[in-house]
Amino acid sequence: ADRTEQLQAQIKALLVEQDAALVAHYYTDPVIQALAEETGGCVSDSLEMARFGRDHSAQKLVVAGVKFMGETAKILSPEKTVIMPTLEATCSLDLGCPEEEFTKFCDAHPDRVVVVYANTSAAVKARADWVVTSSIALEIVEHLDSEGKKIIWGPDRHLGAYIQKQTGADMLMWNGECIVHDEFSAQALIKAKQLYPNAAVLVHPESPASVVDMADAVGSTSQLIKAAQSMPNDTFIVATDKGIFYKMQQLAPGKTLIEAPTAGNGATCKSCAHCPWMAMNGLEAMHNALLKSAGREIFVDEALRQKAMIPLERMLTFAA
Ligand code: 13P
Ligand code: SF4
Repeated sequence: ADRTEQLQAQIKALLVEQDAALVAHYYTDPVIQALAEETGGCVSDSLEMARFGRDHSAQKLVVAGVKFMGETAKILSPEKTVIMPTLEATCSLDLGCPEEEFTKFCDAHPDRVVVVYANTSAAVKARADWVVTSSIALEIVEHLDSEGKKIIWGPDRHLGAYIQKQTGADMLMWNGECIVHDEFSAQALIKAKQLYPNAAVLVHPESPASVVDMADAVGSTSQLIKAAQSMPNDTFIVATDKGIFYKMQQLAPGKTLIEAPTAGNGATCKSCAHCPWMAMNGLEAMHNALLKSAGREIFVDEALRQKAMIPLERMLTFAA
């Protein structure tokens, strides 16, 4: 067997041996997603990853995604061992929202409810009243707005702007963005639509407003996959990380899926529609993490964990 098959077999055996469940995000390599499916783990969006990890009976969770996903798993399941292929896999939203500055921002507006995206550190979550993922953000802000609450929103300004437009809520924004979605280009999308006049445009709301405005469906990764399955179009132009094509094509087999264009291409775009941190989740790294967890295990300070758990559980209860 070649190296890939060898690693797949070894990882499968180690997962069983260690009573471990593999939880993977839709943006990871198809090989990783297939492995999660074949081993009874889960491939899903950020919200479902959190739920699945919390509810699973396994003693260990192997989280294939980025660091905030591993931290969320640990915050919700302190009794479980949580390992990741690499702890280097971060997120530009997390990096762009350092705890100290964010705390100052919140402290300057004590009359506002603090709502943070799941793509943040445990420390930032600990400062928040609510954590949201893109699957549930709109409903939660709608709920808060209906209670007359004013909001601090962080860190994704594009998702925040989209929600503000939809709900009319009073939201003070942190200025962060996802380097992957920020590069989708409305100008280039106009041309792509001319090439595929029957295509529906599916957009993740971490994309710029000009791109979101051209969408036929806007939503989280799982919501975009559902849209590809249920909309009558035979072709879709998809503005999110290209890792999603594996699952989207599997669930919408007859449909033609086209990558939405980024502002640059080849050497000129930063991410070219694939998250460099998600891409760090390879089979070798995962195998190493299962063999030797040192430097690949998630730890969250207990006092911080207890604080961060409150807004996370608030979200999960709301979503239930
Ligand atoms: P969702 O899968 O929750 O839509 O999140 C998108 C994302 O960018 C995760 O990094
Ligand atoms: Fe962060 Fe964007 Fe990568 Fe998701 S795709 S982990 S939001 S940088």
